[in-house]
Amino acid sequence: MSLKNLQKVVNVSKRKILVTMALPYANGALHLGHMVEAIQTDIWVRFQQLRGHDCHYICASDAHGTPIMIKAREMNLEPADLANKYRQEAAADYQDFSIKLDNFYTTDSPENYELACLIYQRLKTKGDIETREITQAYDEEAEMFLPDRFIKGECPHCHAKDQYGDNCEVCSKTYDSGELIEPRSVLTGKTPVQKKTAHYFFQLANYETYLKQWVSEEHLQPEVANKLKEWFETGLKAWDITRDKPYFGFEIPDAPNKYFYVWLDAPVGYMASFKNYCTQHPSINFDEFWSEDSSTELYHFIGKDITYFHGLFWPAMLHGAGFRTPTAVFTHGFLTIDGQKMSKSRGTFIKARSYLNHFEPTYLRYYLAAKLTSRVEDIDLNLEDFTQRINADLVGKLVNIASRTAGFINKKFDNQLASELEAPALYQQFVAEGEFIAQAYEARDFNRAIRLIMSLTDKANQYVDEKKPWVLAKDVEQAKTVQWVCTMALNLFKVLMTYLKPIVPDLAARTEVFLNQGSLTWDNIKTPYLNVRIEKFKPLLQRIEAEKINAMLAENKQTELPVTEKTILDEYPIKPEISIDDFSKIDLRIAKIIKAEHVENANKLIQLTLDIGGGEKQVFAGIKSAYAPEDLVGKMTVMVANLAPRKMRFGLSEGMVLAAGAGGKELWILSPDEGAMPGMPVK
Ligand code: MSP
Ligand code: ZN
Repeated sequence: MSLKNLQKVVNVSKRKILVTMALPYANGALHLGHMVEAIQTDIWVRFQQLRGHDCHYICASDAHGTPIMIKAREMNLEPADLANKYRQEAAADYQDFSIKLDNFYTTDSPENYELACLIYQRLKTKGDIETREITQAYDEEAEMFLPDRFIKGECPHCHAKDQYGDNCEVCSKTYDSGELIEPRSVLTGKTPVQKKTAHYFFQLANYETYLKQWVSEEHLQPEVANKLKEWFETGLKAWDITRDKPYFGFEIPDAPNKYFYVWLDAPVGYMASFKNYCTQHPSINFDEFWSEDSSTELYHFIGKDITYFHGLFWPAMLHGAGFRTPTAVFTHGFLTIDGQKMSKSRGTFIKARSYLNHFEPTYLRYYLAAKLTSRVEDIDLNLEDFTQRINADLVGKLVNIASRTAGFINKKFDNQLASELEAPALYQQFVAEGEFIAQAYEARDFNRAIRLIMSLTDKANQYVDEKKPWVLAKDVEQAKTVQWVCTMALNLFKVLMTYLKPIVPDLAARTEVFLNQGSLTWDNIKTPYLNVRIEKFKPLLQRIEAEKINAMLAENKQTELPVTEKTILDEYPIKPEISIDDFSKIDLRIAKIIKAEHVENANKLIQLTLDIGGGEKQVFAGIKSAYAPEDLVGKMTVMVANLAPRKMRFGLSEGMVLAAGAGGKELWILSPDEGAMPGMPVK
């Protein structure tokens, strides 16, 4: 269904909507740019839910790919474990930003494997997959093909040194990595060689007619559709969906040592996360949402850098494999801070968590909403404007309506609201504005929604200014009027908070507690709260102090220091509490190092043979930065003896030895005092 057709049904029925946002890579912490997307999507989802529609909000970690594999190798972790660590961090960040995701899964899942294979097989059966031999840069020492980002050299155009293999950051020209002058592998510094390998290509051109039609049907914003039309003109190129071993991803069925390129299974992750969600909620039907003839709505929120994937590859894959295509893809611009790209050295590369260490989500949610429109423009977070705007709009105007009137109701009328509105026509005006506000939300024009809401807020304040309950309160004969006026003001406040609820859910929740009449819903806007008791008013929102902004920036500058200069607890926060039962599952034993050997091609590992009194265990320990093998032989240490054995590239590791430290040279294995015997349990 196109957006145009959709507009006809918008007001008619209870809609069934599935919303996704782009899957963040699981190779680093979320930053405020990610939060632009999460907040935009969350506001839209909450709006739909507030209007009474069935709206599901799905996301996942994008786990696969070369960067995460390399990073995991450097940290001596399995890529899946590293991905999982970042997934958990991201889930906590989203939750603490009040992003109400229904499922935050991972692309490294059985559901995703199955669906990715299914789609691939169907495309293959249709003749959309072609095999081609390609020549690619190969690092003989690392024994792997190198993605462009892992090759650096001199730009063939402007001769700037140290440029990546795909484009030059100095002159912005793009080129093939083979054209770089004096190319070298980022991994080993070696000059890459050119090596042949067979890859699979998805024939995008087979879908040209279909895609041209699709792009013309208003599934995309006009500026995005125009961009896609440019791509049609330059011709649709076949898409390489293969990566060679070693790769962290899904092995392609019937193609040993060949893996799906991360971008093949990433969007399938939308479906897989939803499938996993359906398993947890059997009343929701996967096929109803994804079958070709589905009458439900599907929306993808994405950033402008990934339009090619979502505007061309993804609809073609879905259509080719017999699934429904998106109702719309909604593209947003990039976040800048104080007018510039986020920068690590200025401290403006702000991690989601650093923001949360200083502020509640309400502020950023409101500020970004005030800047978000349905267009693809970049959004600037100007930190001074941020402080002023929040303090003026939310604290100075909005919350002020309640803080200047609630006290009278609390103190003089035993918390009881009057039985009538003092100015019913004004209340009606506030209700009538709801349709325009809803239209703005629906169109993702949150900027307009906020302008409409704020102009009502000004009206509510004018009303209080004119009535002056604090003057009336001095006159005993005016007592009733004071109650009426304050009841009126609090009801206007209630309507405003309902309108703002998708944007500032936490502030709305505190308002719900204060007004004491249950949830604020769109349906209840027309019914004022009369003759009921409210709670004692407590300040609903603090002003932003400038020092806190500085503290947040300072914190982000700090995270740029190498690991050893940060506190270890910053880098490795203490994990969630465990019970004594959990702890006692870990079998710690005294172990004697009877052999310690270098591991070929591993720069961090030492292979240890441990005597644990009546048995030997082999462990690969990542302690080479601090110890030479010969220093270790004969030493006693402590090991986890019942850890499930783990297959590593170099052999089987049957446990772990305990070591502590920030890393590098600062790493110490635990050594028991004299007299300890191999095999003794640690108590
Ligand atoms: N993993 C892919 C998406 C796969 S979707 C099937 C990816 N991940 S990402 O972590 O790099 O980006 C996730 C989303 O955040 C993307 O939509 C991206 O555009 C958005 N943003 C990343 N940096 C951003 C800003 N500075 N500002 C706004 N959005 C930004 O791409
Ligand atoms: Zn250049």
